[in-house]
Amino acid sequence: MENIINQQIKAFVDETDGIAALANISAVIKENYSGLNWSGFYITRGNELVLGPFQGKVACVHIPFDKGVCGRCYTERKAQRIDDVLSFPGHIACDSASRSELCVPIIVNDQVIGEIDLDAPVPSYFTEEMEKEMLQAARDIASAYQQHAWKF
Ligand code: SME
Repeated sequence: MENIINQQIKAFVDETDGIAALANISAVIKENYSGLNWSGFYITRGNELVLGPFQGKVACVHIPFDKGVCGRCYTERKAQRIDDVLSFPGHIACDSASRSELCVPIIVNDQVIGEIDLDAPVPSYFTEEMEKEMLQAARDIASAYQQHAWKF
């Protein structure tokens, strides 16, 4: 049986409007992982990442592919689980309270179309289990993107 967070996310990827689905998924993630200070999405647009639906404090809108944890997630096309963002060179501090971060790519047809990005105000908040859950969420979002022809 799938874990609670992935079951809940599956219920929201049935939505035909992509932006609405991502907005609710950002809320579901923040409710389930109670130690987060930020939960949301960055969307690939042209040659940068742009802020998508999120929960938390206002965040940076444009992230170049060669900057920050989000940029590295895009270029390496792999989850980035950062135990201490203060020792990550080039980390972009949207909220100065953030101390650890998990960023996971959403891949459709070999392209990173966006990312799930999560911040916590304590070091080493994110577990391997959470990384697996978010990788599953990213796969479910990628399938829904194709199935519903989401635009964002
Ligand atoms: N910390 C990210 C920027 C996005 S915020 O965390 C919401 C980074 O270094 O790319």
